[in-house]
Amino acid sequence: MIFLKLFHLLSVVLWVGGMFFAYVVLRPAAVETLQPPERLRLWDAVFRRFLHWVWGAVVVLLVSGMVMIRFFGGVANSPTFVQAMLVLGTLMVAVFALVYFTGYRKLKALVAAQQWPEAGKVLGKIRQLVALNLALSIVTLCAVALGRAGYF
Ligand code: HEM
Repeated sequence: MIFLKLFHLLSVVLWVGGMFFAYVVLRPAAVETLQPPERLRLWDAVFRRFLHWVWGAVVVLLVSGMVMIRFFGGVANSPTFVQAMLVLGTLMVAVFALVYFTGYRKLKALVAAQQWPEAGKVLGKIRQLVALNLALSIVTLCAVALGRAGYF
């Protein structure tokens, strides 16, 4: 259980920390210093590298979470905060799938074709989805902290 939780937490740190860095630090720095074509090329290269890591983190998060739930005797026997984590975590994975399949893939093709205005629009949609996932991750962490403290 201890190793499962360790890998679970490492996945959370990688995914949520990466989103925080991209949204709060890299995005404004790129807007400040780069013109749209370079900025869009930068994001294409960033996503190409980071999203592989997120896929790995998502798999480890889901597998470790589900195995830990088995230790509790199934979803119905798990504490409420774990059930909330399951729902919120699944929602986060769905939002990430949208980022990957409807955002990143389109962005990659548009950057390759040098269609900058369209690529900019897709990047804007990805930004909104990442903001949503960051918000969901904060809600999830609050649910875990409150649940662990015995509030529900
Ligand atoms: C479908 C996805 C997920 C499942 C099935 C799941 C399940 C679990 C389970 C069963 C535990 C062990 C709880 C315990 O030992 O009391 C746990 C721990 C934890 N999970 Fe998740 N989780 C998921 C997603 C997430 C996400 C998205 C986050 C954060 C954004 C997260 C953050 C944590 C934290 C911080 C702990 C440690 C809690 C503690 O022991 O104090 N989990 N998770």
